[in-house]
Amino acid sequence: MSDQFQPVIGIIGGSGIYDIDGLEGREWKRVFTPWGEPSDEMLFGTLGGVRCVFLPRHGKGHPLPPSALNYRANIDALKRSGVTDVISLSAVGSLRAQLPPGHFVIVDQFIDRTFAREKSFFGPGCVAHVSVAHPTCPRLSDAAEAAGQEIGLPMTRGATYLVMEGPQFSTKAESELYRAWGCDVIGMTNMPEAKLAREAELCYASVAMVTDFDCWHPDHDHVTVDQVVKVLQGNAEKARALVKALIPRIGAPRGACPAGCDRALEYALITAPEK
Ligand code: ADE
Repeated sequence: MSDQFQPVIGIIGGSGIYDIDGLEGREWKRVFTPWGEPSDEMLFGTLGGVRCVFLPRHGKGHPLPPSALNYRANIDALKRSGVTDVISLSAVGSLRAQLPPGHFVIVDQFIDRTFAREKSFFGPGCVAHVSVAHPTCPRLSDAAEAAGQEIGLPMTRGATYLVMEGPQFSTKAESELYRAWGCDVIGMTNMPEAKLAREAELCYASVAMVTDFDCWHPDHDHVTVDQVVKVLQGNAEKARALVKALIPRIGAPRGACPAGCDRALEYALITAPEK
């Protein structure tokens, strides 16, 4: 018997990415979850025969700020739709001179400074502690890197993403602190998204698009939404091209995740099963 299965790709689009083109059989559908409402309807379709589900993280038209997102509903809605592999796209500020606006970054680590969000599917009655030592899937990240190279994107593999609560941007002292901590980019949305994807046993890769130098850079003015939106408009095209190049690389039938993302709960549950 073969243990191969056909992956289903979930794409979470961040600021500036409210749709993806090239999908066949497009259908926007609302998915209900016990955790409440996801950010919006999700777009179902296929790309080169690969089933894809797209979710605009902030909702169409961007009505939802990072702290108001129902991260549990978003991840659960993808899981319920059969998604096995999640590509998370987001806009970030850069904390490094060598990561200028327009640059793409494949994130592999996070520092989670969020504090006003529901962060787990588990709780009283069913306790679990999954490992997030390596919060992203190396197989998916490899594929994102290869797809970026194929289409000639300026891209860096391996970066630490500081996730702040927002909605205000950082103070200069905070920005400098995060640089001293070794962080490379800063944003407001990848946590608890990545942790919840792990609890849901989904492979998760984060592709971050740099829009600004936050406020630490002596030669650049502090970040404004204006500036973020301007860079995003250029980046959104590139992000969509990346998705198109990436899907065929990860859409072929595959076996279990070599990194074990799909078995994260195997040693994580601590509550005794009911007799
Ligand atoms: N998203 C885009 N740029 C950002 C920044 N400088 N800080 C936090 N989130 C961001």
